[in-house]
Amino acid sequence: MQSVSEEKFRQEITRFCHLIYEKCYVASTDGNVSVRLPDGNIMCTPTICNKGFVKPEDMVIIDSKGKRVKGERKASSEMAMHLLIYEMRPDANAVVHAHPACATAYAAAGIPLNKALISEVVLALGCIPLAEYGTPGTPELTDQLRPFVKSYDALLMANHGVVTSGANLEDAFNRMDTVEHFAKISIYTKILGRERLLSSEDVEKLWVQRQKYYGLDESEAQPKDPMCPVTDGLSETISLTRSELIDLIERVVSTLK
Ligand code: 13P
Repeated sequence: MQSVSEEKFRQEITRFCHLIYEKCYVASTDGNVSVRLPDGNIMCTPTICNKGFVKPEDMVIIDSKGKRVKGERKASSEMAMHLLIYEMRPDANAVVHAHPACATAYAAAGIPLNKALISEVVLALGCIPLAEYGTPGTPELTDQLRPFVKSYDALLMANHGVVTSGANLEDAFNRMDTVEHFAKISIYTKILGRERLLSSEDVEKLWVQRQKYYGLDESEAQPKDPMCPVTDGLSETISLTRSELIDLIERVVSTLK
């Protein structure tokens, strides 16, 4: 016999799986999604399933140790990662793991998304750190994630993808959405050849706003690994054409003569 709430969660996971597939945050059988049920068990996607076609009845229920308690199929191979987040974050009731192209490109390049480029991203997530590579589905991966889980709601996993968590599935999905959108904007600023970062004063003000906006206490509002604001303009990226560069060098050389 299945409760109304269990059916609601099956439907909800299915809806967000279809959404991450439609938004190209996963391809083929990539990614996995889970929620913490009111009784403390975890409902998750089965392993090796296309998230675009998954159905409510495919979901698997496991206990907090990872043992299957309900479902025909095998649970996702990444449940250790989800269980780590549920264990370390009592505030998290949903986890989304996906491989969105732009954010995963950052993860593959070994670059964290930690620049204060966009006010709303500073407000929503702070920085998005990069956890070093660990083989998927093994303790190597959870060991790399552990240092970050307490302080961050979205993580890049080197050479792998992104994992986000939230109070509910919509929150966790929104964070995935923000990470990918921010990664895309970050790439565009690189293409434009110029990144004008927020100043440290601006970031400070955003943290005050963040506290008010999300009703956080001070410790929750402050990131352990701060953004990379500029105070002196030295970390700003600029671009010059070849002739501008030649002109600049010639002028510097002429002043030395
Ligand atoms: P599962 O099919 O076992 O959920 O794994 C998919 C995945 O994305 C691994 O990183």
